[in-house]
Amino acid sequence: MPGTVVVGTQWGDEGKGKIIDFCARDADVVVRFNGGSNAGHTVMVETEVFRFHLIPSGILRPEKLNLVGNGVVVDAEVLLSEIEELKGRGHPVDNLRVSERAHVVMPYHKTLDGLEEELKGGLKAGTTMRGIGPTFEDKAARIGVRVGDLLDEEALRERLAILIPMKQRMIEAYGGKDNLSEQALFETARDWGNRLRAYVKDTSLLLDEALNEGKKVLFEAAQGTHLDIDHGIYPFGTSSNVVVGSASVGSGVGVRHLNEVIGVTKAFTSRVGTGPFPSELAGEEASYLRDKSLGEYGTTTGRPRRIGWLDLVMVRFAARVNSLDYLAVTKLDVLGGLDPLRVCVAYEHDGETLRDFPASMRVLGACRPIYEEVAGWEDISEDSWVEAVKRGYDELPGQMRAYLDLLSRETGVPVGLVSVGPAREATLDLRGT
Ligand code: IMP
Repeated sequence: MPGTVVVGTQWGDEGKGKIIDFCARDADVVVRFNGGSNAGHTVMVETEVFRFHLIPSGILRPEKLNLVGNGVVVDAEVLLSEIEELKGRGHPVDNLRVSERAHVVMPYHKTLDGLEEELKGGLKAGTTMRGIGPTFEDKAARIGVRVGDLLDEEALRERLAILIPMKQRMIEAYGGKDNLSEQALFETARDWGNRLRAYVKDTSLLLDEALNEGKKVLFEAAQGTHLDIDHGIYPFGTSSNVVVGSASVGSGVGVRHLNEVIGVTKAFTSRVGTGPFPSELAGEEASYLRDKSLGEYGTTTGRPRRIGWLDLVMVRFAARVNSLDYLAVTKLDVLGGLDPLRVCVAYEHDGETLRDFPASMRVLGACRPIYEEVAGWEDISEDSWVEAVKRGYDELPGQMRAYLDLLSRETGVPVGLVSVGPAREATLDLRGT
C-alpha cells in the first residue's frame, strides 16, 4: 500500500475474490482493471455467498469506494443485475463508480463470440461466450461503444448507424441468423445509460484524487497470468492483459502507484478452457479435488474445471512477469486427505529439463511434468481450520508448512497470505512478519 495489486498466477479461478475481499480491509478504494463478465469472483461473508462478475470484490465493505476501470469491458445487463441483486440483499452500492472510458459488450458481441468459436477449429479457446473477444476486437479496431456513449443519445445513434450494418454483414458472413434492429439496440443501450448514469464517472480522476489524499488503493485483476493476451497460452487465453502492468493502463494511474504485488496461487491447478495442461490429473484424484472444492465448476459457465497438481513452472513465470512481492496461497484445506502430494517443479521436453514456461503451445503440449513428491496433511473440518489459523503459522501442519516452503523456494517469492477455507477468518496474513 498505497497501491497493492492482486493478480492470478495460474489460469484464473485461484480464489482472487476472497483475497481481494480480505485485503480490502486495509484499502480505501478497490478498482477492477481488466477482463469483463468472463470473470467470476466469489466472496463469502459469514454464511452469505456472493458471486461477482463485474462489480469489484470490495463492494461488501460499504465504506470503500469500488471502481470499474477503463480496462474492463462492461456487460451492462450483468452489471445492472449485480447492482439490483446487491440492493435486494440489503447491500448498498452507492460506493460504486464505472469508468466512462470502459467499453460496452453489445449483444452482437456475444453472437459473434459463439460464431467465431464455431469457425475456429483447433484455435477454439472454449470461451465463456460473454462476448469478451469481439468487444476487445472492436476496441482495438476503434469501432467500440464506450460507457460514456450510452449517456449521449446523439453519439450513440450516430455510432450505431455505422456499426449495425457492419455487424449484420459479419454475422451473415459467419453463418449467423440474427437480424439486428438499429432502433431496438439504440433503445436498449439508451436505457442502460439512463440506469447507469449515476455511477458513470472519470474513474482515473477519482483514483488520482484518492492517491493525492494519501488513500490506499487495491487493484483487482480478473483471470490469471497464463490467460493474458501477451503472456498467456495464446491462442487459448483471454483477450485482455491480466498481468500487473495492466493495472496501470486499465485504471488510469501511473506505475509509480503500484507498490505491492500479490500473486494469488491455488494450492493445485485448474483450467476451464482448452489447450495443453502438463500437470493435469484424471480419475479419482481429480474427482476428489473437484468435488471437495465446491468451486471447481466455472463460476461463470458452470463447466467442470480440469484439475491438476500444483505447477510451479507456471507460478515461477507469473512471479517474473508480475514482479511478485508475495504469494497468497489458497485452498490448502482442499488438498487435505491426499497423501502423497505431487508438485511440478520443471518440465521434461525432448530430453531436456525446462524450468521456464515455453511460449509455444506445441512445445507445452509435448512437456512432461517433473514432480517432487511431498507428504500430505489431514483433512479437517472448516471450523477446525479457522481454529488452526487462530493459533498462528507455526501451528499449521508441518507438511503444509513444508509445502509452502517448497513453493517459496521454487518461485523465489515469500508466502504472504495463507488461506485454508472460504471464510475471511480462515486467512493468515504473514506479510511483514
Ligand atoms: P473468454 O475470456 O471468454 O474469451 O475465454 C477465453 C479463455 O479464457 C477460455 O478458456 C475461458 O475458459 C478462459 N477464461 C476467461 N475468463 C476466465 C476466468 O475468469 N477464469 C477462468 N478462466 C477464464
